[in-house]
Parts: sequence; structure tokens; C-alpha cells
Amino acid sequence: MSSDGYIDTASMRAAGRPSTIARMSNSSAEHTELLAEPLPGEPLKIAAGWLAQALKERQQPNPDSMVLATATPEGAPSARVVLCKGIVAPPGYIQFYTNYLSRKGHELEENPRAAIVMHWDHLHRQVRVEGRIVKAPEADSDAYFASRALASRVGAWASQQSQPVASRQKLLDAVAEAGKRFGAAAGNISHAVPRPPHWGGYRLWAEAVELWVEGDHRIHDRARWTRTLTPKGTGDFELGPWGATRLQP
Ligand SMILES: Cc1cc2nc3c(=O)[nH]c(=O)nc-3n(C[C@H](O)[C@H](O)[C@H](O)COP(=O)(O)O)c2cc1C
Repeated sequence: MSSDGYIDTASMRAAGRPSTIARMSNSSAEHTELLAEPLPGEPLKIAAGWLAQALKERQQPNPDSMVLATATPEGAPSARVVLCKGIVAPPGYIQFYTNYLSRKGHELEENPRAAIVMHWDHLHRQVRVEGRIVKAPEADSDAYFASRALASRVGAWASQQSQPVASRQKLLDAVAEAGKRFGAAAGNISHAVPRPPHWGGYRLWAEAVELWVEGDHRIHDRARWTRTLTPKGTGDFELGPWGATRLQP
């Protein structure tokens, strides 16, 4: 990187080849299985298999991380990384957990649509999902919250995610305060820390899924599945059948 903050990724990539790339990757694109022909009927099942493989091989610290994109009602987008806590296929949704009062929480409240991207470099695969957002059932959020480490549970009370804080020390004070309140500071790890009402899960119900497999010479293999989601009651949908199309790379 130059002193003025400019990074020339093209020349750094070229300089890093082939040894760095070869070391980082234990398989090559030539050996990656392409999408079946005809295209399978349930794309999120394939995505779940890819995620399971990435978690098993653990070539990166957080193979279950995904970029989550939301938008304001006016269409201004924002994106951040969250952890994927489940792909449920069928019926076809992806679950993640966060603070309902965070920036993403406000955007999802006002515009309950989102998109995610998962990418595993060493597997030469990418998953894109677009769809509708509903809050996870309270029982799911309670169960997942209870499974988290004590410090994370305390942190969920202490942090008003996405809000300004005067200093790092003020944040640490808030964490210590919340710890005391729940008896955690005294090392009382059995002390119950209930789930804050502003913290819980979301389900991204898939309306569109795209699977991407790296091909030789950038002739990648891509396919997009779409279906209709017709709302029926709170947080539930009538699911149309998936239709699949192969796409040019
Ligand atoms: C690897 C990784 C995993 C993360 N997982 C989560 C998560 O599961 N939930 C979450 O709320 N934030 C998670 N974050 C933090 C978010 O990226 C983000 O900073 C935070 O949710 C606030 O986003 P917002 O202001 O857009 O709402 C993670 C960040 C990283 C880098």
C-alpha cells in the first residue's frame, strides 16, 4: 500500500501468484463439482451442504459468516457481516440473530426485505439469497440466546447496537454494570441472564437463490432459482414451486 492509502490490488495479486494462492487453497477450480444438469429442485439444500462442508473444513475462522444487505424504504442500501445460524431447506429460509433496534433492525422493520451473500474462497463457491424478512419465533430466540456464552448474553444487554458511545471506556462501564446487575461479575455463571426484548432472530425467506461455482478461465457455472411467497398470516407464506434457470457468468 502506498503512503497516500492507495492499494494496487492488481499488481499485488500478480505478485502473490501462484504460491500464495496455491497455499491458501487445497483444491482447485478444475476439481470443483459443477451444478447438476438438469438443475436440482431445492437450491437451499445445496447451499446447506456447501455451508456444512465449509464448517467441516474450517479454512477460515467464520465459514458461517455472510454479508447481509438491507435497505431503507427509499432504497438506500447498507450491508454488514452476520453469522448464519441455520439454513432450513425445505421450507427455505435462513436464520440469523441480532439487535432489533440496530441500524439493520430499523431498516428491516421499515422494509422487510433483505439479501445475503456467502462466499467460500477455497470451495470456489458463492451463494446469494434474496427474500422477505420475518422475526423468528420467540422460543427460537430464547433457546439460541440461552446457548450463548455468559459474556455475550451480558453484552447483548449492555450494547445499544449501532448507537453512538462517548468512549470505549463508557461501553466497558456499561458491560460491567450489566454484569453486576445479573450477578455475572462475581463469576456466578449459573445466574440467569434473560434474553433482552430487543434481541432475537430473523428469518430470511428465500424468494430467489443463486448458486455460483467457479469455472476455468472465468467461465463460471451459475444458476438462479425463483419462487413466489404469498403471505398467509403473520410470518408465514404460501410457497410457490421453484423454477430454475442457468445464467451466463
Ligand atoms: C465475522 C462477523 C460476524 C458477525 N456476526 C454478527 C451477528 O451474528 N449478529 C450481529 O448483530 N452482528 C454481527 N456482526 C457485527 C455486524 O457486522 C455489525 O457490525 C453489527 O451487526 C451492526 O450492524 P448495523 O449497524 O448495520 O445494524 C458480525 C461481524 C463480523 C465481522
